[in-house]
Amino acid sequence: MIDNKTGQARLSTGPDRPGAECIPFYRPSGNECALFEAVYREGLPLLIKGPTGCGKTRFVMHMAARLGRPLHTVSCHDDLTAADLTGRYLLQGGETRWVDGPLTRAVREGGICYLDEVVEARKDVTVVLHPLTDDRRVLPLERTGELLQAPQSFMLVASYNPGYQNILKSLKPSTRQRFVSISFDFPPPEIEAQIIAAESGLPESQCVSLAVLAQRLRALKDVDLEEVVSTRLLIYCATLLKNGIDPYQAAEAALVEPLCDDPDVKQGLLELIHAAFG
Ligand SMILES: Nc1ncnc2c1ncn2[C@@H]1O[C@H](COP(=O)(O)OP(=O)(O)O)[C@@H](O)[C@H]1O
Ligand SMILES: [Mg+2]
Repeated sequence: MIDNKTGQARLSTGPDRPGAECIPFYRPSGNECALFEAVYREGLPLLIKGPTGCGKTRFVMHMAARLGRPLHTVSCHDDLTAADLTGRYLLQGGETRWVDGPLTRAVREGGICYLDEVVEARKDVTVVLHPLTDDRRVLPLERTGELLQAPQSFMLVASYNPGYQNILKSLKPSTRQRFVSISFDFPPPEIEAQIIAAESGLPESQCVSLAVLAQRLRALKDVDLEEVVSTRLLIYCATLLKNGIDPYQAAEAALVEPLCDDPDVKQGLLELIHAAFG
């Protein structure tokens, strides 16, 4: 059952199950949930590749809730240090106290650590992950002298958008080949329409037109765009439509302006949208 307000799928709610878990809504496109579960059960690390806004983060949130594991998400960037992941000594009330970082917390409690946009992290930072990604499954904390053994229920998940990849920003091959990897893409229009409807509350019949339009926009070859229309942007557009905003204005604000600044490119996209809306 999907909660219309939050777009979340509720499991086993009811007066006899107070505090029943709420699992974030995720509509699979294939067998990715079973793959995630198998990788989790076997204690392997998982890498998810795919364009921005295609559902990678939502998938991880959904699976963590389904497996009943706490999720520690780290948005990686090039200022991220190894200590940001593992932890550091902090001065607290006149004493120095060790404070775990998100990776260490996930290892200690047997949770899932999710490194979003892992290619943004510097290579010396990703090396911290190596002992956790082979069969030792350990996290050495040099500063405290601990060697943490990851429990069975600990899992390391990372994701990135290969579209952005350049020579400076790519994962070290020695890091990359330690992960089981899966490629995500935007779902086929029937499924994407269901996702847009569930997330925005706009009737599915209207969401189908949006999903079909997205497919055409994504197929444009001669338009110079760094990124294509994402499921996220389609949900924004549907949300504006649900609020009674004129379709052209909604499409311009949610599907054109967020993707480009060039007036000619914007005009080209708008013309295609006008043609699609008739
Ligand atoms: N398969 C899906 N099921 C449910 N919601 C989805 C799905 N794919 C995308 N979404 C929606 O699109 C939004 C963006 O997805 P997100 O997981 O944040 O993308 P990514 O992490 O790949 O950039 C989510 O907040 C959710 O509303
Ligand atoms: Mg994400």
